[in-house]
Amino acid sequence: MPHKESEMPMSIGIHDLALATSHHSLDLGNLADHYGIDPAKFRVGIGQDVMSVLASDEDIVTMAADATARILERNGTDGIRTLLFATESGIDQSKSAGVYVHKLVGLPSTVRVVELKQACYSATAALQFAVGLIARDPSQKVLVVASDVARYDLGSSGESTQGAAAAAMLVQADPGLLAVEVPAGVFTEDVMDFWRPNYRSTALVDGKGSIKAYLNAIGGAWQDYLAQGGASWEDFEAICYHQPFTKMASKAHRHLAVLSGHNPTPDEVAHQLEDTMRYNRLIGNSYTASVYVALASLLDHHEGDLTGSRIGLASYGSGSVAEFFGGVVQPGYRAHLRGEEHRAMIEARVALDHTSYEVLHKTTLPEDGREYQTNREGTGAFRFAGMRDHQRLYERS
Ligand code: CAA
Repeated sequence: MPHKESEMPMSIGIHDLALATSHHSLDLGNLADHYGIDPAKFRVGIGQDVMSVLASDEDIVTMAADATARILERNGTDGIRTLLFATESGIDQSKSAGVYVHKLVGLPSTVRVVELKQACYSATAALQFAVGLIARDPSQKVLVVASDVARYDLGSSGESTQGAAAAAMLVQADPGLLAVEVPAGVFTEDVMDFWRPNYRSTALVDGKGSIKAYLNAIGGAWQDYLAQGGASWEDFEAICYHQPFTKMASKAHRHLAVLSGHNPTPDEVAHQLEDTMRYNRLIGNSYTASVYVALASLLDHHEGDLTGSRIGLASYGSGSVAEFFGGVVQPGYRAHLRGEEHRAMIEARVALDHTSYEVLHKTTLPEDGREYQTNREGTGAFRFAGMRDHQRLYERS
C-alpha cells in the first residue's frame, strides 16, 4: 500500500542551533601552575583544556540574547509563539531571564516566555515541551534557549570544571538539522550531588558522589528508553552527553556500552566521542547548554555525511533527572550549520592570566540594591550595564 501524504508521521525537531560564549577564557594550564599541580590532571584526567569566563558586563542574558539574535537573523520571527528559557544560574527569583532576551532581540509581544529549571537537564525538558506544542499546532515554532555560567569556589575541586555558554535552538516541523524521535527514556531520583542554595553565587557539590549519581541516572534513563521500545545501542551513529567535563562523557559512554553488552577500550570510547567534545574541551561546563554544545560540536566537525544517522542525546541534571532520546540527522543539514561562526567565537575569546581571572571571580554584584555600573569589557552584541532601583539594566553594545 503506498503511503498517503496525510499518513506520513510529521517530523519535529531542531531547525537551527547557535552557540554563544564569554568574552574571556582561562587556560587550565594557568590554574595548574597556580596550584602547583600537573596540568595533565586537567587536560587528560578531566579532559578539559580551557574554560570560558564571563566579563563583568556579561551574564546568562547577554549570552542567550547573542545566540538567539543570530537564530533570528537567519530565520526571522515568523511562526515563533513561545520562548522557553532553560537555566540553573537564574538572575531573578520571579522574572524569567527570557523576558529580557525577548526585548533585547526584538521578539513580538505575541511570543510567550517562561523559564525552566532542573539543574543541567531543563533544556531537554524545554525541547520536549516544544515538540509537544508543535505537534498540537505544526504552524508554530518555539525558541529553546539554554544559558548558564558554571561557578565553583576558588580552590574547590570543581574550580577546573567551570565554564559558560548559551545554546539557542529553533524548534519546528520539518526541521533542517535533527528530527527528535519518540520515545524518550527518563529517570528521576532525589539526590544531593550538586545544588546552589539561594544565598550562594557558587554551587556546592559532592564531586565523587555526583559522578556516581550521573552514571546511575543516565543508566536508568537508557534502560527506560529501551523499555519504551527505543532503538538499540548498535543503531546509534554517535551519542552526545551532558559534559560537565569531557571525561565524564567517556565514563557515561562506557557505562551505557557495558549495560548494552559491549566493552569498548578507552581508545574506542575516545574515538567515538571525539567530535562531540571539541567545543566542550574549550568552553568548560555550560550546564543546561552543554549537551547541545556537544550536538553542535558533532555536527560541525564530523567529516562523513551524517544524513539519516541516528544520534543519541543523553541529558543529566543533578538533583537529579536524566533523559535519553534519539534524533535523526536531516537531509541538507550541512546548509544549516554554523561551524565557522562557532570556531571563530571560541577563538576570539581574550585569554586571562590567573590574577585577572581571580579578580573577576571575586567580583560579585552588590546585594543591597545600591546603584551599580559594570565596566565596559565584553565586545558581544549585548551587555549587562548594571543595577538601578533593584533592576538589572541591559543594552545593545
Ligand atoms: N595525569 C592524568 N590524569 C590524572 C592526573 C595526572 N597527573 N592526576 C589525576 N588524574 C585523573 C584521576 O585519576 C581522575 O581520573 P578518573 O576519574 O578516571 O579516576 C581524574 O584525573 C580526576 O582526578 P580526581 O578525582 O583526583 O579530581 P578531583 O578530586 O580534583 O575532582 C571532580 C574531580 C570530582 C570531577 C571535580 O572536578 C568536581 O567536583 N567537579 C564538579 C562536579 C562535576 O562536574 N560532577 C560531574 C557529575 S554532576 C553533573 O554532571 C552536573 C553538573 O554539570 C555539575
